[in-house]
Amino acid sequence: MRVDALPQRTPIDLDAVVEGVGEDGADTTGDPDALIVYRDGDEVRVWLNVCPHAGRRLDWAPGKFLVGKDGHLICAAHGATFETQRGECVAGPCKGQSLRAIPVTVIDGDVRIRLDP
Ligand code: FES
Repeated sequence: MRVDALPQRTPIDLDAVVEGVGEDGADTTGDPDALIVYRDGDEVRVWLNVCPHAGRRLDWAPGKFLVGKDGHLICAAHGATFETQRGECVAGPCKGQSLRAIPVTVIDGDVRIRLDP
C-alpha cells in the first residue's frame, strides 16, 4: 500500500492478517483482522477496528466511519469518540481507554503494517 494512495484524515478499513493480535498476544488463526488505517500528512496510523467499549466494529458499514467536526473518530455502535493521534477515547462509554494500535512504518512511501520491527 502506498501512503500517497491513502486519503488524508479519512479513516479507511483494511482486512489483513497481523500476526500476534489475538488475545493475550497469542497468534491468531490466520484469519484477517479488521483494521482502521488513518493517514495524517505523511504519517499513517493503524488500529484494530474493535471498540474497547463492547468489542464492536467502529464503522456503521464496512469502511463507512463516522468522523466528527473536530476530526475525531466516532464508534457507530454507542458513540465513543476517539482522537486520532493515539486512538484514545475522549468521550463516551469507554472514555480513557484506547483503540489497539498496530505498529506501522512508512518506508520510501510504502506502508508496512506489522508487530515486529
Ligand atoms: S461498542 Fe463502541 S461505543 Fe459501544
